[in-house]
Amino acid sequence: MKRLLITGASSGIGRALALAYAAQGASLALLGRDSERLEQTAMTCRAKGAFETQAYTVDVRDQEKMSRIIHEADTHRALDIVVANAGIASGLSPGQIIETPAAVRAMLDINLSGVLNTIEPAIAMMQVRHRGQLAIVGSMAGVRALPYSPAYCASKSAIHMWADCLRGALAPHGVGVSLIIPGFVKTPMSARTKSWQPGSISDVKAAEIIQRGLERRRGIIAFPYSMYLAMRVFTLLPATLVDGVMRRFHVEVPETSERSEAP
Ligand SMILES: NC(=O)c1ccc[n+]([C@@H]2O[C@H](COP(=O)([O-])OP(=O)(O)OC[C@H]3O[C@@H](n4cnc5c(N)ncnc54)[C@H](OP(=O)(O)O)[C@@H]3O)[C@@H](O)[C@H]2O)c1
Repeated sequence: MKRLLITGASSGIGRALALAYAAQGASLALLGRDSERLEQTAMTCRAKGAFETQAYTVDVRDQEKMSRIIHEADTHRALDIVVANAGIASGLSPGQIIETPAAVRAMLDINLSGVLNTIEPAIAMMQVRHRGQLAIVGSMAGVRALPYSPAYCASKSAIHMWADCLRGALAPHGVGVSLIIPGFVKTPMSARTKSWQPGSISDVKAAEIIQRGLERRRGIIAFPYSMYLAMRVFTLLPATLVDGVMRRFHVEVPETSERSEAP
């Protein structure tokens, strides 16, 4: 029986992944911010056959609370897989030239520091046991820059690079690292984006692909793979040419209203 901790389990991909593992009788520690939606996920997991499910309401930006929860979850039963999935999207509204600085800071705090706050405590625990797997949810937006979502792309490319470094560094210590690179997945997040969404799949299908990739301990779980290859090719072409192609697409990603409080 596997034991997983998943952030962002109250919605979308995180929720679907929790349900997929629940159906296999996994032991689950689920983290999210919205306690009502998180508890709904937990209840459905129990009904689907999870061995046990604990729900923790927390903001991934709270480093100390995240560390406490992850240690508590691991003490209860040793974690086999930790999935840093929680994230937000944000971009330029029509007519907007640069993103609001406070929105950019909040984006980086959640999508970058939130991942660090999830993975760092898990590394410490897993390397002692010489066993475990870390999964980090990035995005196609982390492979090639999109002119309509600068801070989102920056946050995702940073965690891509971090995950790639960790994979090499932790392999000799028995800890696997999987970087998950989704294309479009039908979730509340993608529903807020107005654009053509080629190759869009359901959250259930995405969870199935992620689960299969994690079972095989893949270093990179990118889907649709054709989109991933296209984005990689774009990085090899002249930058201004690709920028011009990207600008031809009409994309509206509403700017996040998330804000991080000053210390
Ligand atoms: N959907 C796509 O097309 C797509 C494509 C590429 C990558 N992704 C990535 O996949 C991941 C999941 O996205 P999704 O599509 O499933 O979005 P979603 O349905 O909006 O779910 C996002 C999850 O992240 C949680 N979250 C956000 N900010 C948080 C914070 N400060 N503290 C704790 N939890 C927080 C949310 O919790 P609450 O709702 O409880 O606040 C929610 O559970 C994200 O990292 C996203 O960037 C998605």
